[in-house]
Amino acid sequence: MNIKTISLFSGSGGMDLGFLKAKGFKVILANDFNKEACASYKLNIGDHVVHEDIRKLKNIPKADLIIGGPPCQGFSTANPKRAFNDPRNMLFKEYARIITEANPKVFLLENVKGILTLDGGNVFKLIKKEFESLGYTLYNQVLNAKDYGVPQSRNRVILVGVRNDLNLKYEFPKPVKSRSKYGKTIAVGDVILNKKFKKTDKNHSISNLSELNTKRIKHIPEGGSMKDCPPELWNNSDLKRAMRRLDAKKPSHTIVHNNCDHYYHPKENRRITIREMALIQTYPEDYIFVGSKGEQSRQVGNSVPVNLGYHLALSIKELFKKI
Ligand SMILES: C[S@@+](CC[C@H](N)C(=O)[O-])C[C@H]1O[C@@H](n2cnc3c(N)ncnc32)[C@H](O)[C@@H]1O
Repeated sequence: MNIKTISLFSGSGGMDLGFLKAKGFKVILANDFNKEACASYKLNIGDHVVHEDIRKLKNIPKADLIIGGPPCQGFSTANPKRAFNDPRNMLFKEYARIITEANPKVFLLENVKGILTLDGGNVFKLIKKEFESLGYTLYNQVLNAKDYGVPQSRNRVILVGVRNDLNLKYEFPKPVKSRSKYGKTIAVGDVILNKKFKKTDKNHSISNLSELNTKRIKHIPEGGSMKDCPPELWNNSDLKRAMRRLDAKKPSHTIVHNNCDHYYHPKENRRITIREMALIQTYPEDYIFVGSKGEQSRQVGNSVPVNLGYHLALSIKELFKKI
């Protein structure tokens, strides 16, 4: 099988790596407007990535599949009749434009769960209506990455469109069993403990703690947070969410941009590193993230976990087998 795939909003390619791991997919074009994310993609995956704002992306090739989801910040339905032409909704409109030009058999769009309830559900209705009008039958479901071999609780909406002329029904992947020494679900400890990290690994630099945080972290047990410190060490942040120490025996909280700044190592009195975040996102150990630490964290936090991408890819492959 050689499923010609276009990857949009590719970032550092978490989802792409999952599709490539599943075999049978060839990514012919990837796109992102973040320079460092493209540099990481190029270095680790291939030079088919185009560094460009999607609004300027031209010469779209025909493809069998489009993967990737636009960020939905600022999406507005203020004027439902014109909502898709509202500049804030441009990225979905661009996605629709590329579907029209590439005419894929299938597309797969990933987004945050919040998109389902934006504006009382109107935003999602509008997006579905727009994609249906292009001639696709849509399927959507919220999947949690922890059910697909990822040591992390991460809920994301997956929207799959299947071209109507194919007359096929898509089925979401069923949760899988993953090996863990802590129980039934793969956990943080499975991927970050007892690892020999390379001293030269630029993605594993350990950041210094302030004197106050050094005092605080000593009071925080595995799975705990600043609320476990004596009150004189509290600040006025949300104590349950501040300085969370991950529990080695459980899946991690959702990895997002910059949270190596507030998630702490299960056993050591320090923050987790970019490398550890990436392992929790199921990136391969030898993936190199390019750019400043902030940019590396953005790439890792923005990613679709590789193993979730992999199981989605297997389900898409089943569909292509029927074509
Ligand atoms: C949630 S991330 C996607 C992550 C990726 N799917 C992965 O698995 O690693 C969204 C990406 O959209 C990119 N992006 C946002 N606006 C864009 C635009 N106008 N043109 C191209 N890329 C854009 C961001 O730079 C970011 O990398």
